[in-house]
Amino acid sequence: MGDGPHAVILAAGQGKRMRSALPKVLHPLGGRPLLLYVVDAVRSATGSAPVVVIARGDTAVRDLLGDVATCVQQETAMGTGDALRSVPEPLRDSGPVLVVHGDSPLLRPETLQRLLAAHASSPRACTLLLGIPADPSGMGRVVRDAAGHVLRIVEEADLPPGEAVPLECNAGVYVFDGAQLWPALDRLRTANAQSEYYLTDVVALLTGPVEAVVVPDPDEVLGINDRRQLAAAEAVLRRRTVDALMLAGVTVEDPVTTYVDAGVVVGRDSVIHAMTTLRGATRLGAGCEIGPMAILTDVRGGDGVVVGSSHLERCELGDGVLVGSYCRVRPNTVLASGVELGTHAEVKNSTVGAGTRISHFSCVLDSDVGEAVNIGAGTVTCNYDGDAKHRTTIGNRVFVGTNSTLVAPVRLGDGSYIGAGSFIDQDVPAGALALGRSRQRNVEGWSARRPLRS
Ligand code: UD1
Ligand code: MG
Repeated sequence: MGDGPHAVILAAGQGKRMRSALPKVLHPLGGRPLLLYVVDAVRSATGSAPVVVIARGDTAVRDLLGDVATCVQQETAMGTGDALRSVPEPLRDSGPVLVVHGDSPLLRPETLQRLLAAHASSPRACTLLLGIPADPSGMGRVVRDAAGHVLRIVEEADLPPGEAVPLECNAGVYVFDGAQLWPALDRLRTANAQSEYYLTDVVALLTGPVEAVVVPDPDEVLGINDRRQLAAAEAVLRRRTVDALMLAGVTVEDPVTTYVDAGVVVGRDSVIHAMTTLRGATRLGAGCEIGPMAILTDVRGGDGVVVGSSHLERCELGDGVLVGSYCRVRPNTVLASGVELGTHAEVKNSTVGAGTRISHFSCVLDSDVGEAVNIGAGTVTCNYDGDAKHRTTIGNRVFVGTNSTLVAPVRLGDGSYIGAGSFIDQDVPAGALALGRSRQRNVEGWSARRPLRS
């Protein structure tokens, strides 16, 4: 990436308050690890790859970041000041250094740009971001002098009892003058409530003005320390994502009950009905109608797709596909354009050709189905013999009568016709009629002769 301002993201904390085996910054938010939001915002604001301080031996975070950042290790989590001190000499820039906490995923790139611009507007030792959140618990408070310059930051646990608590909170986002920052880190001491090297203490050690920029949207300063804050951030992000969809021309019937991951794309004039969840890499075209109560995960859909209250995962839907209610479309399924699934249909690991209809209560598993096929209600492809899975192959324009049982491996040739209620365990030639059922027998006059019911 380009040679923009130097940036460091702190992501080596233990995240004790999450009470989790997973590193805090890897907890998913809107479907992706929360650290990635911070990395994206910083890269977009600075135009260059940041340095990320990770915990010693944290291969999961290192693997996640790949080459989008340069990872450096903090030996032991001894506080935010110590984390920044872990940046080795060759990576210590003497110009402006942007420092951001890895647990603040709601920061907008524009806010970081505003902070960088403010810092550049006059000679300063530091410019820091602050906000006034509705719930400031756990946050450091910013103490200013009468002229508005920042004097120091006091952590909540270190607030002197009985004194007025400042309303302004430290967002954990700073631009430092590198020439002053790096030497000052060596002067930090641990005489505080948590016995840690606080980065916040650096502010009082700098010479020259320390100024503050107030973020207008207090949601941006939300740091994720515990799972209540994770849920609060999720709600904010969800609202942002759903708002963006609506502004891009999608009707969202009930934004409050619509759960959409950050990376989801939906084309204009689509309608999302209430209580619908769109997850992961789901991408839908224009004019679709989804829900109510649909769950789509990693679904690629064309234009004009209609999905009722159904669950779909890792599948592709061509233009105009119609999935009725209570269906399940499972991974590795491709439904070509115009395919219709009735109610309670299940399709897995299958390709289904254009214009094919799979009626209610049918189960199509491990199958390749041609175009313009009609699969009658209650048809099942028996894919499993107890040891292995086998495929069912159905040609074009095949008619499968209601309640048929197709025992794989089996092939139904183009244009063949399967009588309703058939049990089919042998291939059917193209154009043939297959009747895999016992013949009907009528017993004349039986009703009159049967024993009377009491
Ligand atoms: C910190 C600030 C607080 C601010 C708040 C904003 C300090 C001392 N306090 O508190 O003023 O209001 O953020 O969200 O800085 N980290 C490391 N190594 C460590 C400790 C932390 O890399 O040894 C990283 C964490 O992974 C995290 C970030 O630094 O991403 C902040 O640490 P955290 O423990 O969350 O600090 P807060 O208590 O939130
Ligand atoms: Mg925090």
